[in-house]
Amino acid sequence: MGGGECKSNDYGAAAYWDARYSSGSPASNAAGGGFFDWYQTYPALRPLLRARVPASSRVLMLGCGNSLLSVDMAKDGYEDIVNVDISSVVIEQMREKHNEIPQLRCNMQMDVRDMSLFGDKSFDCVIDKGTLDAMMCADDAPHGASKMLAEVARLLTPHGIYLLITYGAPKERVPLLNQPGCSWSTTLHIMPTPEYQLKMNKGAPQPTMEEVALTEDGQLPPDYVLKDPESHFIFVCQQVNSVRG
Ligand SMILES: C[S@@+](CC[C@H](N)C(=O)[O-])C[C@H]1O[C@@H](n2cnc3c(N)ncnc32)[C@H](O)[C@@H]1O
Repeated sequence: MGGGECKSNDYGAAAYWDARYSSGSPASNAAGGGFFDWYQTYPALRPLLRARVPASSRVLMLGCGNSLLSVDMAKDGYEDIVNVDISSVVIEQMREKHNEIPQLRCNMQMDVRDMSLFGDKSFDCVIDKGTLDAMMCADDAPHGASKMLAEVARLLTPHGIYLLITYGAPKERVPLLNQPGCSWSTTLHIMPTPEYQLKMNKGAPQPTMEEVALTEDGQLPPDYVLKDPESHFIFVCQQVNSVRG
């Protein structure tokens, strides 16, 4: 995924992810018992997470895959992280890997379009790294993505945070975020890809995250130019005026 538009409808299908996580391909690394992070890793995201998400937060990781993000967060003091993914294969792998980590108490196979197993306002923070992007590749897009976002709004506490890490620029993602029933106070941070950072810093990656003020209608300033055209967008969406009171 990347570069703006969805490149393959497969990313929206559970069967695709099950096959991928069973295969041990470099980007699944499952057979080797490894991990793979899409887009960005915890060390790069840490300053933002630590600033906006207290360690005592109840955190829900949407479409966790075999990312190291929750493990690294737990090691860094986060106390309560629930991982969900549509792929039963990766959830089984995560259960085995997280066995010894009490903060990762729960790894559940779940479709993020229906998270009715969780009650309203169950989480202080919902993290989504690449999952909305996958949903936008599904046959039911954008309907399924909207269902997921409605569920996120339902699950968050008042003032809770939905952290969306995506390749989708504001013009693609803000209309989705602003659907009826969702009300966010949003800040945007832009991060070049790790590859670009390596190139620019001559082999020594120095994660740089730039906060960019959105226009009133939630878009990038008209004169804003991305340094790296493949940059990732990090939307920090704080729930306001929850429709559910
Ligand atoms: C691009 S990967 C991102 C994985 C991980 N978050 C990361 O950052 O490396 C997208 C993940 O979303 C999961 N996924 C796709 N559709 C889903 C759905 N409807 N419900 C739950 N998980 C889904 C896939 O199984 C996959 O693990």
